[in-house]
Amino acid sequence: PHLSAHARDGLMVEEVPLARIAAEVGTPAWVYSAGSLRRRARALTGALAAAGLDASVHYAMKANDSLAVLALLHREGLGADVVSEGELRIARAAGIPAAGIVFSGVGKSERELRLALAEDIFQINAESAEEIAMISAIASALGRTARVALRVNPDVDAKTHAKITTGRAENKFGVGIDDALKLYRRMASLPGIAPVGVATHIGSQITAGVGAYRAAYARLAELVRAIRAEGLPILRIDCGGGLGIPYRDEPAPMPEALAGAIKATLGDLGLPVMLEPGRWIAGPAGLLLASVVIEKIGAQRRFVVADAAMNDLARPAMYDAWHGILPVAPDALVAPIAPADVVGPVCETGDTFARGRALPPLPAGSLIAFLDAGAYGATMSSTYNARPLAPEVLVDGTRFAVVRERQSLEALLHGQRVPEWLRE
Ligand code: LLP
Repeated sequence: PHLSAHARDGLMVEEVPLARIAAEVGTPAWVYSAGSLRRRARALTGALAAAGLDASVHYAMKANDSLAVLALLHREGLGADVVSEGELRIARAAGIPAAGIVFSGVGKSERELRLALAEDIFQINAESAEEIAMISAIASALGRTARVALRVNPDVDAKTHAKITTGRAENKFGVGIDDALKLYRRMASLPGIAPVGVATHIGSQITAGVGAYRAAYARLAELVRAIRAEGLPILRIDCGGGLGIPYRDEPAPMPEALAGAIKATLGDLGLPVMLEPGRWIAGPAGLLLASVVIEKIGAQRRFVVADAAMNDLARPAMYDAWHGILPVAPDALVAPIAPADVVGPVCETGDTFARGRALPPLPAGSLIAFLDAGAYGATMSSTYNARPLAPEVLVDGTRFAVVRERQSLEALLHGQRVPEWLRE
């Protein structure tokens, strides 16, 4: 795909050697492939169109909220799924029009709802009876009408990691499928609300086929029929995100399979559908480039200590996630391999990227790449251990640009102060 190993230049993203990026930008650094982002956006919209669906894609920007990535995806015709004021403002700054924005999330504040209404975004996905009342009150007071879709929890098991499954009845998301019709009726009767449809999102990193999608959408279809039977308006169906990617070699469903599941379950309703994918678009398009600080041969294990850490890429520490790790140097690819634990310099054992990973000798200064880190990588970073946020680089063919500078130490101190009574 966008990654290749070159005999002279080592690992390259598109036409740019990672060693060149490291030399110019330093490490750790996030590297995104514009070509990969474009191809993936097109593969998704292409699959939906090929299935004969009238579909739009609202990219879940929580996966990667880089302004440059958003601007690129906007040029591919994607809108944005946002979950906070910050995301809404970044999406707008990237050039995505309000008419291309959907607001999801279980805890939208009054301030955020006001902003969404003032901007007149495309759709707000309501998650509870309480939120419906809140939206009605705010919209009425502002003299606006909110276009609201009702997020339904279909109570299906997406068979993914417990921390990222969302479609079970016990999860905090959406309204129960049994209450949905009643609440949709209520939305239609309340001032300031125009009910526009139903929405669901059953979880993330769904790799166990599209069976759970099918089950969820079949329940949604039943609900849509019931809504129509009452003569209530319904304009569209938001099918959520969650399509998984292979981090290791696990099989993962392709967009064609998801499009097929949508077509089979919702196709005959004749309504436009929306999708909110994040990971599938951005995940494989990015990597985290790091240097080896030291290679430590312990009594029992070999440790490769990188200059990237759990504060940069949190997924291994947080979800025991597996990320591929490749050496960047050309000769590393033919050197003898032996197991190593790849860790970061942060002071806790959880700061471990991989255990017993087969890797060549990686002396201090060697470059390594953590793969499939384009989604939920930079966006989940923190400054733990006072480590500045790593820069983000976009590669496009032979060109590359720093699209977010490395955070400065001044920025870490910015806005902090010691109260006067502690200054003696
Ligand atoms: N729509 C809604 C309402 C969501 O909550 C999410 C993700 C998405 C769409 C996009 O899901 P995707 O297509 O990216 O799977 N930090 C975790 C993933 C959390 C996902 C949260 N919601 C991870 O690193 O695996």
